[in-house]
Amino acid sequence: MTEKITLITGGGRGLGRSAALALADAGQDVVITYRASADAAAEVVAEIQAKGRKAVALPLDTTEFDAFPAFVAALRETLTATWGRDSFDHLFNNAGIGITTPVGQTTAEQIDQLFDTNVKGVMLLTEALLPVIADGGRILNVSSGLVRYTAGAPYGAYAATKGAIEVWTRYLAAGLGARGIAVNALAPGATATDFGGGYLMSDEFQKQVSSVTALGRGGQADDIALAVVTLLSPSARWINAQRVEASGGAYL
Ligand SMILES: NC(=O)c1ccc[n+]([C@@H]2O[C@H](COP(=O)([O-])OP(=O)(O)OC[C@H]3O[C@@H](n4cnc5c(N)ncnc54)[C@H](OP(=O)(O)O)[C@@H]3O)[C@@H](O)[C@H]2O)c1
Repeated sequence: MTEKITLITGGGRGLGRSAALALADAGQDVVITYRASADAAAEVVAEIQAKGRKAVALPLDTTEFDAFPAFVAALRETLTATWGRDSFDHLFNNAGIGITTPVGQTTAEQIDQLFDTNVKGVMLLTEALLPVIADGGRILNVSSGLVRYTAGAPYGAYAATKGAIEVWTRYLAAGLGARGIAVNALAPGATATDFGGGYLMSDEFQKQVSSVTALGRGGQADDIALAVVTLLSPSARWINAQRVEASGGAYL
């Protein structure tokens, strides 16, 4: 892989952290953002620097839409100071939240929280970053296996946010093709992270996931990180406007 810079939202922990480390292993430099996980983000940066690659962490709340211009300005300064560049190559829109919303008990506040973080923030941040993404670059959005299969009714509102991202991914790809920018959506199956309060890591949940997954186990953050590396590698240059599921074959 030739040297590229990837910007990862929510890179301090979970899938963003694993992707940052795996991209560094694959020869990429990274800018990660963090909201609450400042210390964890600093550890990721130190780990990547120890691998001999460049990494920087910047604060960003993806629901503070009015602060996006200031974030873009800070990013531009960072790119110039650290890489002597005025652009970056790949945007990995990873930051997201999960809230379970049982049918009949879903509130307006829950819907706003989910859509502000998983849809509106992703769309507006991407719009704000378009001038800084290099022509020929890539955008990778994060969807979910839950868009294809229904693992339980309480995931409906969350899955709807990811369904929106899948549709928008195709339109964004149509709009950015002239700049040579490919846009895809990666849809992880259930993966053991802190997501949604940590229930994904419980033995009971992992056992249930294993029983509905063709490859016979639950997903680990490294499984998704390798899929991210693949989709942001030169080998994937002709993959555009696609939903790629990484679930080990869940709910076939
Ligand atoms: N784990 C799964 O099973 C799974 C499956 C399918 C899709 N996904 C998707 O994968 C992505 C990452 O999930 P994960 O499993 O890594 O979850 P996680 O461990 O809970 O991490 C969530 C990440 O998102 C960041 N974040 C959340 N709200 C934010 C906000 N308002 N502004 C900025 N950053 C924010 C967090 O940053 P701070 O810690 O700094 O706040 C954290 O880095 C999400 O989009 C999720 O929907 C996960």
